[in-house]
Amino acid sequence: MTDTLCFRNIGQLVQADASTQPGIRLRKHCALLVEDGRVHKILKESEIKSSKSYARVIDCQGQAVVPGFVDCHTHLIYAGERKDEMVDRMRGVTYMEILDNGGGILNTVKATSRATEKDLFDAARKRMKRMMALGTTAFEIKSGYGLNLKSEMKMLTVGKKLRTSLKVPVTLTYLGAHTVPAGENREEYLEEIIENLPRFRDLADGVDIFCEKDVFTVADLRRLFLQAKLLGFDLRAHVEEFSHQGGCAEAAKLGALSCDHLEHATPVDIHAMRKANTTAVLMPGVTLFLGGEKHPLVHSMLDAGVTLALATDCNPGSSPTYNMQTVLTLAASMYRLTPEQALAAGTYGAAKALGGEKDYGGLLPRQRADFLILKTNDYRDMFYYFGENFVDATYTAGKKFKAPKDPAL
Ligand code: NIG
Ligand code: FE
Repeated sequence: MTDTLCFRNIGQLVQADASTQPGIRLRKHCALLVEDGRVHKILKESEIKSSKSYARVIDCQGQAVVPGFVDCHTHLIYAGERKDEMVDRMRGVTYMEILDNGGGILNTVKATSRATEKDLFDAARKRMKRMMALGTTAFEIKSGYGLNLKSEMKMLTVGKKLRTSLKVPVTLTYLGAHTVPAGENREEYLEEIIENLPRFRDLADGVDIFCEKDVFTVADLRRLFLQAKLLGFDLRAHVEEFSHQGGCAEAAKLGALSCDHLEHATPVDIHAMRKANTTAVLMPGVTLFLGGEKHPLVHSMLDAGVTLALATDCNPGSSPTYNMQTVLTLAASMYRLTPEQALAAGTYGAAKALGGEKDYGGLLPRQRADFLILKTNDYRDMFYYFGENFVDATYTAGKKFKAPKDPAL
């Protein structure tokens, strides 16, 4: 008896990889064979054998099948909400003013420090399940709402447990340098982070920093990254979000896997990312939610051959969304990306930002069978009828995910 699953009658199948950049590859009227949770082969409908040859045959009813989304930048482990800040911003206070006045990230730090490991785990698991229902099949999760050794470790321990519990790829990032804790000195705090880095080696795959005016400097980024690199951490950075500081070029020079946000990145920064093969992670949901007007130089990035990735930035302050479909449609409309460029950025590009592109993100033979059956036979409907949920079923490692229906609040 074979273990092969046959997903047949696929109207449109999407694959994404380096050779199709910046777009995707489309196949019509085909079947997908899955073995041991991985893509085995793509067949023409006419090549399918008798149903006895497969453990199960699943009829996709002519619908589109796309790779699961990779959400390569999230802060989804947290406690508390910040709806009052949202209203303050609507009245004209800026995101950075709220942080400078001791709110923003620091508000979530207070709530997260008070929460137990179990509270954090339950809330984050519920969020992730909702994200999976909306099409995400691989995640990156940052710490950064602890800002002390104990609380940062608590967050990353929760991250590790989520990985085991949900059995999906989860990349963990230590973001102790998210902001300076209330009442502490920046340089001393950074020194403490650097000194304690080895203790995070078993908890996190990478290290991140928020390099911004009145937060951490480019020199801080350099100091942190040099040490993190020595210890074998991947490097990723929040850079050039609200102002241009120079963190992007510096991070790229030090070999960062990704530079994230980039609204104020310049052609020099783009050149540095290209040279270092650093992926640009763009998060239009933040611009939408904070009411910003500045967009990254997306087309200069594409022309230069920089790989684009898209992510939610899911967090309670600047982007409380779980929905990669929303992010893709925003990227298409706000940045004028074609549906194929946006889909490639939310799958292959985002997997590359995590160094996982060989294993997932493209629906290629030998990759994890993480994919979505859509409620349409044309994936472009996601961009056209924007705001709808087009995910009919999410499959991770070839298994159908039992999706919760209600929003995770
Ligand atoms: O990526 N820019 C800094 N950090 C997060 C926001 C975190 C928060 O506001 O809680 C971001 O947008
Ligand atoms: Fe972020």
